[in-house]
Amino acid sequence: MSDSFIPISKPFIGAREKELVLDALNSGWVSSIGKYIDEFEAGFARYCGTEYALAVSNGTTGLHLALAALDLQPGDEVIVPDLTFVATANAVAYTGATPIFADIDPDTLCIDPASVKSLISERTKAIIPVHLYGHPADMDALTEIGEAHGVHIIEDAAEAHGAEYKGRRVGGLGKCGVFSFYGNKIITTGEGGMLTTNDRDFYLRAKRLRDHAMSPRRRYFHEERGFNYRITNLQAALGVAQLERIDDFLGRRAEIMGWYNSEIAISDSVRLNRVKNWAKSAFWMVCLEVDRLDEAGRDAFMQALKARGIDSRPYFCTMSSMPMYKQPPLPVSARKARIGLNLPSYYELTKRDVQRIGADVNELLATMGPA
Ligand SMILES: Cc1ncc(COP(=O)(O)O)c(C=O)c1O
Repeated sequence: MSDSFIPISKPFIGAREKELVLDALNSGWVSSIGKYIDEFEAGFARYCGTEYALAVSNGTTGLHLALAALDLQPGDEVIVPDLTFVATANAVAYTGATPIFADIDPDTLCIDPASVKSLISERTKAIIPVHLYGHPADMDALTEIGEAHGVHIIEDAAEAHGAEYKGRRVGGLGKCGVFSFYGNKIITTGEGGMLTTNDRDFYLRAKRLRDHAMSPRRRYFHEERGFNYRITNLQAALGVAQLERIDDFLGRRAEIMGWYNSEIAISDSVRLNRVKNWAKSAFWMVCLEVDRLDEAGRDAFMQALKARGIDSRPYFCTMSSMPMYKQPPLPVSARKARIGLNLPSYYELTKRDVQRIGADVNELLATMGPA
């Protein structure tokens, strides 16, 4: 099977997932009430070490819900990294507030606290560090800035379930954390998300807004405009089964990263994920950067890999390059977006697969781009 196509990502759905989803189906509780939602929320809060967890329909709605619960208004600003998935910036824009783009650290690919500092104003209401590709952002430096300016920190942990900052799991390091359970994430519910927090009032407000802000005193009376951002019991059943496996999933991702590190001919100018000594990465994506390949060279390299049956994907495009957020580029983000790409990593990827990918990467890199 060594010549079969290797996708970039693939969920692992086992017998336990099928058992619990079938049980949810058979119970008749197919919408947003049911024991699996309670179980998933309680289990995920326990896993993150937070007091509360609130399951939502996806990571994007989770981010929007968190910002709505902070009562963001037009005129407010929220600092987000220039290199992220677009949902981070869009969630800010949905509230009417303005996303302000900060540059990133070249090693962690996460928001650069020095850049954040230079962008803080009296309009800044929140900072959203994204734990990009599974590596945690430098939370102490950001917390210090947040505290000095009375600004909330919302962790976008969509890609970083189980990642640790100085021995603490992400999700409980700021006002709240937001996770995604899309099919390519560390654990999946198909579509789904989770908001984690230690703040009871914030949790209760987010919970009310998730359910159309229905009055607790009068059914079908709504004191403000809320949303339907709920998850279903069927999705939560899948989530409960996936959460049982999370340590195994993360262990395999670390193992896969180790295989890549020994198979790919790394140098100062050909780099894989860099991990700070204070971080434990979830290794959501394997990241490859080749300094001598420009954007066209990187894209040609990915095409050549595809021709050999190996899937890959480019890094995210920068927010500042997109029509709705257009502004002059930020140097580190812009460069990383041009040269970076992600290689396959998923639970069932074997050492032999990684050996094959490594051999193809090394061979192609020896022949591509300027010497
Ligand atoms: C950094 C980041 N934020 C937010 C999201 C949004 O999550 P979802 O796709 O579940 O809406 C994603 C992922 O897809 C993401 O990668």
